[in-house]
Amino acid sequence: MMRIGIPKERTENETRVALVPVSIPKLAKLGFDIVIEKNAGEKSGYSDSEYEEKGAKISDLKDVMSSELVASINIPDFKMMKKGQMLACMADPFRNLKEIKEIIEAGITLLSLEVIPRRLSKGQSMDVNSSQDNLSGYKAALMGSQHIAKMVPMMMTSAGTVRPAKFIVQGAAVAGLQAIATAKRMGAIVFATDVRIASKEQVESLGGKFLTVEGAENLETEGGYAKEASEEFKKKQEELLSETLKKVDIVICTALIPRKKAPLIIKENMLVNMKPGSVIYDLAAIQGGNVAFTQVDKIVEKNGVK
Ligand code: NAI
Repeated sequence: MMRIGIPKERTENETRVALVPVSIPKLAKLGFDIVIEKNAGEKSGYSDSEYEEKGAKISDLKDVMSSELVASINIPDFKMMKKGQMLACMADPFRNLKEIKEIIEAGITLLSLEVIPRRLSKGQSMDVNSSQDNLSGYKAALMGSQHIAKMVPMMMTSAGTVRPAKFIVQGAAVAGLQAIATAKRMGAIVFATDVRIASKEQVESLGGKFLTVEGAENLETEGGYAKEASEEFKKKQEELLSETLKKVDIVICTALIPRKKAPLIIKENMLVNMKPGSVIYDLAAIQGGNVAFTQVDKIVEKNGVK
């Protein structure tokens, strides 16, 4: 029987776990033995006994890391692994080149799930990006709205009306569309931009207002991803955005270009125009950020903008 080992995540602020108890019987049926590191599911709300009830064994890190297949969210302590073992995770190979090289040199087979082309029919069932982008778009709308002073929905009483909050979402693919949908459900007015023309219809179907850069060419590749925008596009986008930023309360940034640094969309001079007390939530932070001053996992305050 092949054994799958699930270590506890070591990355700070990581609350996910690579396997949830409900999946264990399915894997057992396929002939896998599952071993889980003690407390691996704790931060996701799964106790060791829940894993045991579903048929997994609870063990220590050393035992888990000796499994034929180790599955995790982030790159685990692969130095504990040996030649011939397999590792499935989101290795982010374009940013973790040093580790990737070491894993390959150690003779470990690495399956980096986030780089499987998901448009191929075989890739669809292994798509780890869509679920995670969906979650992050949803959370960005919720967490962003907790940092503004005003309420999100329109509030009407006989004594007067409070206008709804305004959001703008940069990049309208999986994360951006979920952020738009969540903000709309909370009652916000939502604007969105993207360099792919196809996203206009999707934004509008969710009740968002698509901001079109005049004379924009469609910057979509055959694979459905974005190409880098021309200097002319970036200038026009900047002008349109500067005007919109003056009136919004929350900006959610999700713009990415595969294998490249994230495009810098909100520059220092544009922040000056924003309302004090407004919030920018930059989901592109790890890829370099869509905003000047973005820092990973930190709240930065500039001119009263968080
Ligand atoms: P992504 O995370 O790579 O990028 C996010 C968005 O940022 C994209 O819409 C991109 O066009 C936009 N962007 C890039 N530069 C920008 C700029 N300067 N200003 C504004 N926006 C900018 O995108 P994701 O979520 O990975 O989706 C990429 C494509 O893959 C989409 O066409 C999506 O529909 C498709 N897709 C296909 C799936 C499947 O076939 N199973 C599953 C999920 C997505």
